[in-house]
Amino acid sequence: MQTSTDRTVYRRRFLKLLAGSPLLALSGPAWLEDRLEAAETPSEVPRSPLITAPAEAMNVFDFEAAAREKLPAAHFGYLTTGVDDDATLRANREGFSKFQIRPRRLVDVATVDTSVELFGATWKSPIVLAPAASQKAFHLDGEIAAARAAGAKGHLMILSTGATASVEDVRAAHGGPIWFQLYPTDTWRIAQALVKRAEAAGCPVLVLTVDLPAGRNTETERRFARTDTRQCSSCHALGLPGYVRRKPMFDGLDVTGVGLFSPRLTWDAVRRLKDTTRMKLVLKGIETREDAELCLRHGVDGIIVSNHGGRAEESGRSTIECLPEVVDAVRSRIPVLVDSGFRRGTDVFKALALGAKAICIGRPYLWGLAAFGQPGVERVLELLNREFELMMKHAGVTSLSKLDRSFVVDGRRT
Ligand SMILES: Cc1cc2nc3c(=O)[nH]c(=O)nc-3n(C[C@H](O)[C@H](O)[C@H](O)COP(=O)(O)O)c2cc1C
Repeated sequence: MQTSTDRTVYRRRFLKLLAGSPLLALSGPAWLEDRLEAAETPSEVPRSPLITAPAEAMNVFDFEAAAREKLPAAHFGYLTTGVDDDATLRANREGFSKFQIRPRRLVDVATVDTSVELFGATWKSPIVLAPAASQKAFHLDGEIAAARAAGAKGHLMILSTGATASVEDVRAAHGGPIWFQLYPTDTWRIAQALVKRAEAAGCPVLVLTVDLPAGRNTETERRFARTDTRQCSSCHALGLPGYVRRKPMFDGLDVTGVGLFSPRLTWDAVRRLKDTTRMKLVLKGIETREDAELCLRHGVDGIIVSNHGGRAEESGRSTIECLPEVVDAVRSRIPVLVDSGFRRGTDVFKALALGAKAICIGRPYLWGLAAFGQPGVERVLELLNREFELMMKHAGVTSLSKLDRSFVVDGRRT
């Protein structure tokens, strides 16, 4: 790769060469140097000031800076962290550049339909709010604000077990059916109670997260926390009892001796959950064809390809690169969703072309929430939808059913 120092050296050499040319006798090196500078130096993009209102944002990244400005360091650390060296977090973004888009021309794209059907419900957009715990750490209205935004814009939302608002209140704020994400804990009695409550609240789908069997190493989070001078324990006690005290889903449950994660979670739990609930069962955190095949064998109704936004294991592999093998194993028998690193409409386009039915976002809507509450989340959704719709038009795709692998090149193979 050529660096800017390399370019400067070559430019000087080239100018020296020209300085000896009779041509320069006519014009002069100052003129030439100016022209070369202009041609070779990419024009500096003006740095945008911090946005002060959702409407000022040009893309979802604008909300990250605004969120960082507003949040206490420890809370921003929790939001932003990956694990170990944050390599998987970066890989999730870099993965998208390995796939390129093949646009088709001369198609009437005056209207495009981005709606998607998932388990009998139709949503305006294939962009879903991923489950994220503790949203009141980002904004006082937490999950309620996110749900109102999702409901207003016609998006599905998945509520976390670790939510700081109850499933009943979030469902009411959303106005439509929401899915419930389950951390089953290490105690079946608790898992059962959580499942029954979500079912009674009208959730049609249970999302079992399977990628955190034994905690994780969130170094970045801890480094941010060290710079925070406030005393965490003055707002919330630590450990599971302190954690669940702020999590309404655990209200009334005795969590003495219970662990939030279970290293003993196996495929047996999947069978047990299937026998416990009428809700559809989706597994979140699948990354391989082998596990996709096991999902089918165990009667799982859907898959979310996910590495928890680079917050589970440091696999170093992006989910967009995991997606094709899972889609191939599933062969359209159940819906496959994907998350981790989605920030642009083109990312959404690539995933859907590779066979995902929908995609989920985590941090982008949480940045919007932290920065501006409900209007921030709404603007994040608006921006992503607009970019995605624009990409569909550029590529000549008028509905999601017409989007297939012919629209992407797997750059890893060429
Ligand atoms: C602050 C935060 C909290 C999260 N909490 C949960 C959770 O409670 N349950 C879960 O299954 N995933 C959780 N996730 C992971 C998301 O559901 C999703 O997989 C991830 O955020 C997608 O990556 P992205 O943030 O790059 O979009 C969380 C993610 C973040 C950023």
